[in-house]
Amino acid sequence: MPNKKISTEAEANPNQFNRREFLGISAATAAVAVIGEIGGMSEAAAASAPFSSTPIPAELKLPWADTALAPTITANTLSFHYGKHHKGYLTNLKALLASTDPLVTKYTKKLQGKTLEEIIAATYNKKDPSSLSAYRNAAQVWNHSFYWNSLKPNGGGMPTGAIATLINSSFGDYTAFRTKLIAAAVGQFGTGWAWVVLDSKKKLQIISTGDADSPLTIKGLTPLLTIDVWEHAYYLDYQNGRSAHVTAVVDKLLNWDFANTNLG
Ligand SMILES: [Fe+2]
Repeated sequence: MPNKKISTEAEANPNQFNRREFLGISAATAAVAVIGEIGGMSEAAAASAPFSSTPIPAELKLPWADTALAPTITANTLSFHYGKHHKGYLTNLKALLASTDPLVTKYTKKLQGKTLEEIIAATYNKKDPSSLSAYRNAAQVWNHSFYWNSLKPNGGGMPTGAIATLINSSFGDYTAFRTKLIAAAVGQFGTGWAWVVLDSKKKLQIISTGDADSPLTIKGLTPLLTIDVWEHAYYLDYQNGRSAHVTAVVDKLLNWDFANTNLG
């Protein structure tokens, strides 16, 4: 069931990255897409966030070549993480929504035609198996699309742009921010995610969520970057070395351009 446990401590090369293309969203759809309430996210925040209204994609696509993140994340890891896990969540979600079993459609008919964010909001903390499955798979499709865009080749290191200013005003300096982000990712018990988010007071926070949960279900938070700490994200390359993996991701792959885009 959805893990509500939240630990509160309190972006791809623009030339390579087109999130709408990546997600199969037309520019027109993205431009007009504003939904009222997304899992507690304010309408204003949702409207400004790039992943605020995401149709279920017809197919998935990485924003870079599968060899581009090596050696921090190898093509072998991506072949399973993206090729099996991420695609599997999408396949599962589509199959669930295509089911004609009355025991399933009782819960899924209201999800037809909805965006990923709307499905996540409608099924969060629901107890019936169909809603729970819809929640987990929709959230994991969304989380992974957001995660791929949170990474880029030759990323990481000192931030630039508006995110750099916010890091300094929220955490003192980049070193303090980096330490807290790595600690949140390494310290997340079991499966889950570490997130850099913007709160309603326009301050950055670093949080972690369990399983498929994300800041979309927490009122007032706008996700800016994420790090996947499910074992499938690193085990083939690092075995149990989550700390080494997370540190390398932060220092070599984080996509500050994506964070700045999410700031609007
Ligand atoms: Fe993952």
